[in-house]
Amino acid sequence: MLQDITTPTLREARPCVLETPRLTLRPPVLADAAAIARIANDRRIAENTRRLPHPYSEVDAARFVRSLEQSAETVFLIAHLDAPIGMISINRPASGRAELGYWLGVDSWGRGFGTEAARAVIDDFFGGSEDNLLIGHARVSNPASRNVLEKCGFQWTGVELHRFEVIGSSAPVDAFRLTRGAWSSLKARANTGRR
Ligand SMILES: CC(C)(COP(=O)(O)OP(=O)(O)OC[C@H]1O[C@@H](n2cnc3c(N)ncnc32)[C@H](O)[C@@H]1OP(=O)(O)O)[C@@H](O)C(=O)NCCC(=O)NCCS
Repeated sequence: MLQDITTPTLREARPCVLETPRLTLRPPVLADAAAIARIANDRRIAENTRRLPHPYSEVDAARFVRSLEQSAETVFLIAHLDAPIGMISINRPASGRAELGYWLGVDSWGRGFGTEAARAVIDDFFGGSEDNLLIGHARVSNPASRNVLEKCGFQWTGVELHRFEVIGSSAPVDAFRLTRGAWSSLKARANTGRR
């Protein structure tokens, strides 16, 4: 009987693996914990992310992966040539706007991977939800992250103070927003070869 068949929600029905020219983005599993800890255990990453502790152990990584079952955050492990190189997520707090966050292992910085992963996740976000807005933040001392956001079409909205666990205090961050309309325009321009 048709009425007995549970219809998956749009979110459940969407593929949870994203492919880009160089990267595979997939849900992290417990078997990734050692690799995640190895690349995340670097103060240069922790100082630019609000919640990543330092030092960061395999136990921390395993706890994080387990927590995702109950989480409002959609997290992808970023893999290059089958090896984990970082994480990227969309957090959807119960009250508040969806927010993009990411980090890469230091050995993978400066090769365009951050922008490539962010574009894939943003495309999946707008393609798979009714949301019209995505926000992002970067410490004012973090030009790489600001550049990732700007290359993805985010617009600067001001400076805010956010707490960073690893420094034990608040720090100024640049706040950004990306509307569905701005993302569509950016994609349309890319498709016609204009940047
Ligand atoms: C932010 C982060 C993910 C950037 O990833 P990445 O792969 O190195 O970024 P990209 O290579 O895509 O670079 C994006 C742009 O920033 C530029 N850029 C990269 N590093 C830079 C730096 N240190 N200073 C200034 N510009 C920089 C790149 O040249 C590129 O611009 P271009 O294409 O015009 O040349 C990475 O630096 C990181 O993980 N940092 C620590 C954690 C973090 O900051 N997370 C974000 C929290 S908001």
